[in-house]
Amino acid sequence: MCGIIGYIGEENSRDYLISGLEKLEYRGYDSAGILVFDGNRMKYEKAKGRLDCLKEKIKGKELDGAMGIGHTRWATHGAVTDENAHPHLSEKGMFAVVHNGIIENCEELKQQLLSEGVGFKSETDTEVIAQLLEKYYSGSLINAVSRTCEQLEGSFALGIVCKECPDKLICVRRASPLIIGKGEGCHFISSDVNAVSRYTDKIYKPGENVISLVKKDSVSFYDRDLKPVEYEAVTVFADSLSAEKGGFEHFMLKEIYEQPEAVEKTISAFDFETVKKKINLQKVKNIFITACGSAYHAGVLGKYVIEPLAEIPVQTDIASEFRYRRPVIGEDTLVIIISQSGETADSLAALRLAKEKGCQVLSVVNVRESSVSDESDCVILTQAGTEIAVATTKAYSAQLAVMYLLAVHLAFERGRIEEKSKEVFLSQIEQIPESIREILRRESELRRIAREIKDSGHLYFIGRNTDYAIALEASLKMKEISYIHCEAYGAGELKHGTLSLIEEGTPVFALACNDTVFRKTASNIKEVRARGGRVYCFTAERYADEIEGCESVTAIPEFNPFFIGSLEIVPLQLLSYYTAREKGCDIDKPRNLAKSVTVE
Ligand code: G6P
Repeated sequence: MCGIIGYIGEENSRDYLISGLEKLEYRGYDSAGILVFDGNRMKYEKAKGRLDCLKEKIKGKELDGAMGIGHTRWATHGAVTDENAHPHLSEKGMFAVVHNGIIENCEELKQQLLSEGVGFKSETDTEVIAQLLEKYYSGSLINAVSRTCEQLEGSFALGIVCKECPDKLICVRRASPLIIGKGEGCHFISSDVNAVSRYTDKIYKPGENVISLVKKDSVSFYDRDLKPVEYEAVTVFADSLSAEKGGFEHFMLKEIYEQPEAVEKTISAFDFETVKKKINLQKVKNIFITACGSAYHAGVLGKYVIEPLAEIPVQTDIASEFRYRRPVIGEDTLVIIISQSGETADSLAALRLAKEKGCQVLSVVNVRESSVSDESDCVILTQAGTEIAVATTKAYSAQLAVMYLLAVHLAFERGRIEEKSKEVFLSQIEQIPESIREILRRESELRRIAREIKDSGHLYFIGRNTDYAIALEASLKMKEISYIHCEAYGAGELKHGTLSLIEEGTPVFALACNDTVFRKTASNIKEVRARGGRVYCFTAERYADEIEGCESVTAIPEFNPFFIGSLEIVPLQLLSYYTAREKGCDIDKPRNLAKSVTVE
């Protein structure tokens, strides 16, 4: 992943770079660096740690130059050190490079360069690119860039500065996002529109392998054969990205509380007529939902709702598995890609595979200006707004709402439910935001539970059907921010192995909200208790009194079992939040993670 920013204009680039990096930190935050070029000297600073460490390091330093590049890193090649942070310079200092992506053949290239006597300072794949540029440079910038790109396998978005070309910033991309922002007497390059939206809403979106020569007042583009190509700047909508916590201690908590609004807006913006126009539903015989992380979990829940309601086979796949397992898909398959960012590398690859195989592709995306939106046949936008915490909450909830709406509309369209039932289902879905509000208002025992489990080495989440889909997400939420090892199991599957791990005092979260399987899960709870497990149960109000012997029973308001997951997840999100808080973890930026994963 990593975030790239660049500026070329008449002012000092330093502040533009830092403000851009602030917006890009979600893409990686283990180190950062900037380089400015005043036409004579390239000056740079890099610092391990959060952007604040870099800001501290550059305080009072002279870093002036009307051109500059900056980078926020999520380490792939090489440890998290100042030396491995970007930008990387070529040995003789002719080129400086910032890079997002992974060069898969970097070892071969590095060995070749080493054998030619080139010296390396870092362990990164990016430094190889800088050295190749220097090797191939003999006066023509685009030739050097083109020859270098020909050598590279993998994915990259590059921002390049050349010492002999003080009037040009160069960028090129392959399978990694990069846009060019058109400002007043200046241009920007960036991994994300939001990092430049404060300065412009006009952007160029160069295609893959197009080399862009960016000057302060013009941009020229060259295709793979170095023929000039034209791009028009387009006006984009970008979130104003209110990076304010609004009185909340963390963005995650704020975003948990924003869920009713996110779901409400998503429901009102949902337009099935557009789906019908863009997707030929008559052709669809089966559905594959593919995504990563929490988006995948939204897809798992989608399967539990779409398949029984619309009576159509639905499969869910983790995108990184889907893309390499040669799925049997074709013209009669509808592939649904779910992605908050719309830039996740594996989800994008899954989308491209689906298109190649002739499938229709419907995407559920939170970021309008994204590669997944651009390449899909039809896009349903979730309306969660900008999500800043790495652990997603409101975008996930908005994705669930889309799954329900699709299920109901598809069911009606396929003649599986009558108009009247459709209206009943839709009105139940419309009640979700208010019910989430009610849960958020309730005094709960969650803080106490958080204190009880915070020192546990392992936690288990069990459930069946939609409760299982929620268990997957609850477990991910807890592990990513509290660093406690968590596992989610289908409650019926526990006895096929995992039950051997349950001993006196092992905490188990039993999710039993879906009343179609309540009795079955209740038996599984007994099995756990019989082995000494400490059970924390989350169940629908009507069953709360029936559950005995648990450490706590959290009652979820009565709701249609298809949709109750949207309510059930909320206390579980809060529970992970409070647990991580008890442990003093960095909740909004958990270690080793990033919000948008644009590498494989
Ligand atoms: C990262 C994030 C997760 C997210 C996943 C998929 O791992 O930390 O919260 O669910 O990527 O991201 P996407 O943007 O495709 O939803």
